Amino acid sequence: MGRLLIINGSPRAPRSNSRRYAALFRRYWKEPVDEYLVTDCQHTLICAQLSRYDHLLLVFPLYADALPAALLRFLQEMERALLPANLRVHTLVNCGFLEPEQNHTALAILQYFCAKNSMKYGSSLCIGSGEAILDTPFSFLVRHKIKKLASSIHTGHYDAFSVTMPLTKKMFIRASTRYWLSYGSKNHISEVQMRTMQVEGDNEA
Ligand SMILES: Cc1cc2nc3c(=O)[nH]c(=O)nc-3n(C[C@H](O)[C@H](O)[C@H](O)COP(=O)(O)O)c2cc1C
Repeated sequence: MGRLLIINGSPRAPRSNSRRYAALFRRYWKEPVDEYLVTDCQHTLICAQLSRYDHLLLVFPLYADALPAALLRFLQEMERALLPANLRVHTLVNCGFLEPEQNHTALAILQYFCAKNSMKYGSSLCIGSGEAILDTPFSFLVRHKIKKLASSIHTGHYDAFSVTMPLTKKMFIRASTRYWLSYGSKNHISEVQMRTMQVEGDNEA
């Protein structure tokens, strides 16, 4: 139990899935909680205030099997700060693919970061199909696991949780392909364009 700070490590923090997961966590965390978006770029100030907290919950998306650069910059600032000895780090990571274990490398990176900086590590929740699950009938599964995450931090019985949509890979690929094609079409982007490696600015060249 104690005071908790959520760090939203998504580069699109204000309208991210991470924000929605953080909001659910706040619903189940019955003690004082603050939230900081890495996109607010106040890293030095926030790191100077870490002694106010007992727990740090890093909520972020998986990027290229690892951590988004925006979150790495915050961690670099943490390394420079004087970290309180009692601070315990927890993670809630979501990825686009179906398998929650896609997030394990990111967890290992964070566990190494904690060990290197003499910080205690606590609980984790890995979410697969994180881009979609909250808008499906399976969202109750995520809520249940977020509640368990909050309770494990509260009681000090730290644990590793995971959740995803109960679909076969084939069903997931079919449904997600349909979703992204319709999303592309709403934004006037064809399937061929989406299958290239080009990103926004490249098209203007
Ligand atoms: C640049 C980029 C890299 C990504 N890399 C992965 C990845 O390696 N594996 C995966 O399952 N999802 C990957 N995703 C999907 C995101 O993890 C997923 O969309 C997530 O829900 C985004 O969360 P957010 O809205 O909190 O930023 C990637 C997304 C982006 C934009």
